[in-house]
Amino acid sequence: MFSIEAFIDQCRGALQSDDPSGTVATLLRDALQDRSEVATAIHEWRANGGGDFGAVHRARDLTILHAVVAPGFESPRHNHTMWAVIGVFEGQEDNTFYQLAEHGIEEVGRTAIRAGDAQVLAPDVIHRIANLMPRPLEAIHVYGGDLLGTERAMWDDDTGAQRRFDFAAPPIPATSN
Ligand SMILES: [Fe+2]
Repeated sequence: MFSIEAFIDQCRGALQSDDPSGTVATLLRDALQDRSEVATAIHEWRANGGGDFGAVHRARDLTILHAVVAPGFESPRHNHTMWAVIGVFEGQEDNTFYQLAEHGIEEVGRTAIRAGDAQVLAPDVIHRIANLMPRPLEAIHVYGGDLLGTERAMWDDDTGAQRRFDFAAPPIPATSN
């Protein structure tokens, strides 16, 4: 039985391992073996108020988000500055990857993360996510830091110019967790 509280505890435990992101990916793949259980728990949590920005858990060293992406949506190209693990439980998350180039950024690869899959993104990843399917995409995104309070970058679709990611919550004070 998937429990959000137990999953948070397991992810917090993974931070102490030699390979936190790899350990979180294993935890997510295990949980996603029964996707309907994950969906039920997450939807119940949402129905009971959920959290700001879909944050299931927010701490200085760990963020867990419930991402819901409408059909046809494409995110701006952005970085995280910390490792991430993407686990999809409904639909498919299409990822396009970029790297810094002489003038802006250039595409270096694509991958589709399908329902039931989890994938690690390295701290230096720049990507765009898209839902190209005619149904909602739902995923659990786990990050090795306070994603919502961390200054990071996005790249303008028209000009390619880098600018500050315009979605940020106040950082969590260093005195709390
Ligand atoms: Fe991202």
